[in-house]
Amino acid sequence: MNSTPPNPAAANPAAADLAASGLTVSNLTIEVGGRVVIDDVSFHIDGGERFGLIGESGSGKSLTALALLGLLPDGARVTGSIRLGDVEIVGLSERELARIRGRRLGIVFQEPRTALNPIRTVGRQIMTPIRRHTDASKHDARRRAIELATLVRLPEPDRIVDRYPHQLSGGQRQRVAIAIALAADPEVLIADEPTTALDVTIQAEILDLFARIQRERGMSLLFITHDLAVLQRTVDRASVLAEGRVVEEASIETLLHDPASPVTRALLEAARATTWTAGATTDHDDDRATDEGAL
Ligand SMILES: Nc1ncnc2c1ncn2[C@@H]1O[C@H](COP(=O)(O)OP(=O)(O)OP(=O)(O)O)[C@@H](O)[C@H]1O
Ligand SMILES: [Mg+2]
Repeated sequence: MNSTPPNPAAANPAAADLAASGLTVSNLTIEVGGRVVIDDVSFHIDGGERFGLIGESGSGKSLTALALLGLLPDGARVTGSIRLGDVEIVGLSERELARIRGRRLGIVFQEPRTALNPIRTVGRQIMTPIRRHTDASKHDARRRAIELATLVRLPEPDRIVDRYPHQLSGGQRQRVAIAIALAADPEVLIADEPTTALDVTIQAEILDLFARIQRERGMSLLFITHDLAVLQRTVDRASVLAEGRVVEEASIETLLHDPASPVTRALLEAARATTWTAGATTDHDDDRATDEGAL
């Protein structure tokens, strides 16, 4: 990231208090290899709010998430502002970003197999952010790792922490990834298609887990998906992305019942089609096909 926009909170201490919670993305533009891939994207997530980013493949969802964490590909040019509480993320050094990642922003990626290190036990992987961001002793960090394994409903938490990722199921690995993201108690949890690689019943369990954790911990949630049916279960409000731009931002109710953009309407159609396929009925003339509210 090589642009340094002014930080309003630094210039005005009173503004720092006002901006002390939540995440505000303003006019974010990202160029990779001379091509604009994110174009003037803005959204705000309040402290404790559940917000979604939805769009088709290639619309820029993951790049937006990576920008929040300062993890963009080499040579990416970023302009605009990403403010986390009173901290401006655009322009931070790698060292400063490392202090924010995990501690203030946690992320869960799509594919739990590649997100985890195959040669370290899951307990050690959950302990890493605890040791990095807190002064917990090794003993306390292990106890905390077991508590987190319990929180994400892993079976036999005190034994599973000594296992390796390949000894777990896909759903269990994703629970480990969520425990790692929560380990340092971040104020914003980012989930980038966290259930896409899982089968349908496990997907539902993981979505319920996100809902419960967000409710219990009161953290902000940025949930990324291409599936409006998934979004309906996880957030209250969302931005719709297409070709790197926000084409619509609205409550989930509006997106489902009164979408303004043809892009949102296409996502709605796609979600309905998947829901029929996944549903018990094989009757495609079923009333649900035309019922706007029956995703
Ligand atoms: N490392 C990279 N280098 C160059 N271009 C990239 C890179 N990563 C992504 N892009 C481009 O940026 C655009 C947005 O990609 P992004 O990964 O954010 O899409 P997405 O919405 O997350 O898609 P998906 O649903 O498939 O995950 C795409 O056109 C993609 O080709
Ligand atoms: Mg993606």
